[in-house]
Amino acid sequence: MKKNLIAPSVLAADFGNLQRDVEMINNSEADWFHIDIMDGVFVPNISYGMPVLQAIQKHAKKTIDVHLMIVDPDRYIKEFAALGATNLSVHYEACTHLHRTLQAIKAEGMKAGVAINPHTSVDLLEDVIKDIDLVCMMSVNPGFGGQSFIENTFQKVRKLKQIIERNGASTLIEVDGGVTDKNAAQLVDAGADVLVAGSFVFKAENPTQTIKELSDLVNS
Ligand code: DX5
Ligand code: ZN
Repeated sequence: MKKNLIAPSVLAADFGNLQRDVEMINNSEADWFHIDIMDGVFVPNISYGMPVLQAIQKHAKKTIDVHLMIVDPDRYIKEFAALGATNLSVHYEACTHLHRTLQAIKAEGMKAGVAINPHTSVDLLEDVIKDIDLVCMMSVNPGFGGQSFIENTFQKVRKLKQIIERNGASTLIEVDGGVTDKNAAQLVDAGADVLVAGSFVFKAENPTQTIKELSDLVNS
């Protein structure tokens, strides 16, 4: 049976205790570090940038999954590769030449991801699906942690899974936003492979235990 992955979103960490929170993820059953980069233009919020990612990367011992919520992401592909990103996801809505951008990400040795907003149809990915290693499906409007999960995501995941299978692609489906123990199992049943969780993990009394519970829930 395939392992379903948990990717805590560092956006919800305590930045005054960043090393502690990175070590918590290292020592937990989490699989990936999810890194949200926001530019205040593509989304109405600014998160953190290169120096903070560098600080995280110095201590992180797991896959670094970068989610770029920025316009014209091609400008920074090389820089994120140099900073140790394993996966680099760009937004469909921010790329005029998505196919070219995906090739540029792979040329730097990273896995190429495409993030899609809640209003963007998964059908738009069909012609490029074989070139996508990872679809980061937004289940909230990007820009902020702590928002409520959009229920329509379940049917989008199912539809995307069909597209992947129909094309013989090996694309992973990642769901990002509002993930909790209430929707995790249903998301995996629908076809999700990776669940991002920010507030649910970091607002919990015992984040390590919460990660374990979430992982057990989707791998039983
Ligand atoms: C939203 C970000 C998400 C966010 C998830 O723009 O892309 O990764 O950090 O946080 P929660 O799990 O709190 O919705
Ligand atoms: Zn994200």
